[in-house]
Formats: sequence, C-alpha cells, structure tokens
Amino acid sequence: MIDERRLRILETQVDALRTREKDSETRKTYDEVFDHAALLTIADLITDGVISTLDYPVSTGKEANVFHATGPDGRAKAVKIYRIANATFRNIAVYIDGDPRFKKVKRAIRPTLWAWAQKEYKNLVRMEDAGVRVPAPERVHNNVLVMGYIGDETQPAPALREVALKDPAAVYADVLANLRAIRKAKLVHADMSEYNLLWWDGRVVVIDVGQAVPLDHLRAAEWFKRDVGNIARFFRRLRVDVTPAGLERAILGG
Ligand SMILES: Nc1ncnc2c1ncn2[C@@H]1O[C@H](COP(=O)(O)OP(=O)(O)O)[C@@H](O)[C@H]1O
Ligand SMILES: [Mg+2]
Repeated sequence: MIDERRLRILETQVDALRTREKDSETRKTYDEVFDHAALLTIADLITDGVISTLDYPVSTGKEANVFHATGPDGRAKAVKIYRIANATFRNIAVYIDGDPRFKKVKRAIRPTLWAWAQKEYKNLVRMEDAGVRVPAPERVHNNVLVMGYIGDETQPAPALREVALKDPAAVYADVLANLRAIRKAKLVHADMSEYNLLWWDGRVVVIDVGQAVPLDHLRAAEWFKRDVGNIARFFRRLRVDVTPAGLERAILGG
C-alpha cells in the first residue's frame, strides 16, 4: 500500500540528500536513482517496516548506489539500489545469460534489474547458509536490496585494500575460509578482490555478490580462476607465500 503522505516525506528526504551534493555528476546520479518507481519501492519498504529512514549515501558505483538506512528497531541497514540505466543493463546481462536460475527472465531493463537484485539477495542467502561471512540479507523488493550494515555510525567498514593489515597471513587464512565456504555454496563470486572484501572487527566480510554464478554456469571455471588470481596477487604483495595454483588447491582440496 502506497501512502501518499509517506511518499511526500520521502521525496523531501531524498531532495535534502540531493541538494547536499555539490558535484553535479553526483546530483545527476541521484535523479537516476530516485525515479518515481524507486521512491515507491522505498515507500513500500518503509510501510512494511523494513527500514524507517534512508539516511545518507555510502557509495555511488557504476551500477548501484548504497545508502545507510535505519530500521524501526534503530539498527543500521545498507540499502543497495540498482540504477535503471542502460549501462547497468549491459554490464549485468553477461552474468544472467547462462544462469539456469534466470532462464525465464525477459531481456527488458526493468525485469532484468529486478531479477538482478533478487539474484544478489539469493546469493547472499545461499552464501550465508554455507557459512560465508556476508551482510545479513533482509529483503529484496524490485531493484532495491536491504541487508545488514557493516560499519558503525562514524564510518562504513573499509575495503581490505584500504587497510594496513598487521597480520596479512592471518587475514589470508580468513579469506581462504570464506572462499572455501563460497565453494561449498556451489557458487563462484566472479568479482572477488580486495575491493569487495570489507574489513570490520578484525574479520573480512564478503560483499557485492550480485554477479556470483552457480558452478554449472558456462563461464564459472574462467571466473573462478580470475577470483583466485586476484586474491593470490593481493596477498603476495603483502608477502604472504601464496600462488594462484596453491590457493586453488587450498579452496578445492578436502
Ligand atoms: N552491507 C554493507 N555495509 C556497509 N557498506 C556497504 C555494504 N554493502 C556495500 N557497502 C559499501 O558500498 C560499496 C559498493 O557496494 P558494492 O556491493 O560493492 O557495489 P558496487 O561495487 O557494484 O557498486 C562497497 O564498496 C562498500 O563501501
Ligand atoms: Mg563492489
């Protein structure tokens, strides 16, 4: 149910966020993200009690924007909004094509984006069930995904690449455990790197799982090798004794 009054309040909130942005590119992004449909979707999430306020942007990416939001219980949530733009559509089509779970999806922009947000949600659930440390999946509605917020009120969790790690070997072991759990979920992350691993409370958190594909995807093996290569390269630079072949064996073995 769409409550007109709530929608007006929401529009005012988004307007306040937008006018805080000095940079005109960012303002344009806001106009793209908060089209009428997105506002209605967020209004639904508020009505359903999933969030109570959308507070401030955390990240403005190519395909999605992530916001800090607050739930009715006062807990912080991350709200990821996939943008309805052609760029998004082109970039994600390659991952949906060939994923048997999305065979029936028509290649129109809106339904594809919705399927994409749903795919990220399902991948989060599947990974969480297999013991991967991910933000807790909470809800997906149209092109909007709500999950647990990693970080605190002063800052979102930094990406692994931004942190000066005291004990790289221990962090490597933590990443390896997560990679093994992703494998146990029978998925390939397909965008695994020090950019999509957050560092919080002395542990890594795997994010950005929208493009993850099941092992029977045509390109699963290719993307798995790429993921392994990225992680091996990152830790080698930190003087951890790891090779792509060794890491691959450690993930697959036993
Ligand atoms: N659950 C979360 N908690 C805190 N910050 C998050 C969360 N999810 C994403 N972010 C922040 O938003 C950024 C972009 O999110 P991500 O899912 O990687 O999307 P993309 O890289 O496709 O834009 C991340 O690098 C991180 O800084
Ligand atoms: Mg990312």
